[in-house]
Amino acid sequence: MKLLHLDSSVLGGHSVTRELSGAIVARWQARARDLAVQYRDLDREPLTHLSSQTLGGRDELERARGEAVLQQFLDADVIVLGAPMYNFGIPSSLKAWIDRVAVNGRTFRYTAHGPEGLARGKRVVIATAAGGLHAGQPSDFVEPYLRQVFGFLGITDIDVVRADGIGLSPEHRAAAIANALEHLPEPLSKAA
Ligand SMILES: Cc1cc2nc3c(=O)[nH]c(=O)nc-3n(C[C@H](O)[C@H](O)[C@H](O)COP(=O)(O)O)c2cc1C
Repeated sequence: MKLLHLDSSVLGGHSVTRELSGAIVARWQARARDLAVQYRDLDREPLTHLSSQTLGGRDELERARGEAVLQQFLDADVIVLGAPMYNFGIPSSLKAWIDRVAVNGRTFRYTAHGPEGLARGKRVVIATAAGGLHAGQPSDFVEPYLRQVFGFLGITDIDVVRADGIGLSPEHRAAAIANALEHLPEPLSKAA
């Protein structure tokens, strides 16, 4: 089984989503046989934004880099994603990654009956954190957005681990992280 681990927090060692995504991956490593983990740090090694240069395909290096990102996603059985809330949405570095993996004809296509996801059969586990309390609120543009994007690509097996209220107080922060760590999804309950 191939697991792709992505982080996008800018907060380094203080990051909540890095702690949570790391714990999720460690759990997989402890439970899943023959697990191959690939790691991509979108903060330390950011992808360039999608541009006319990218779409034009004239820059060979740019094209090859984009293809490598897409192929790494296509190869993965499980994607563990550290996705903090920044300004109510995901970090722009993570959006740049999504722009590389949502590719017409590769991970989705339009048909006469509507759009069709082509990346079926994968499992996605999202570790998210926010300074305030946004779960289920109109102010949350992280979880609904990520569910929409991965659903559009054909991925329906999505778990979300949330730590909300990180900025409210040190006590809130500690409790939210502890609660999230207590409720990590089971690695083998769905896709073995
Ligand atoms: C640039 C930036 C923007 C943020 N924007 C929001 C926000 O819009 N709403 C919110 O509740 N918290 C916001 N926060 C707080 C983060 O969501 C919180 O610190 C969370 O722990 C981030 O995950 P991380 O620790 O993995 O980076 C922001 C933090 C940063 C650094």
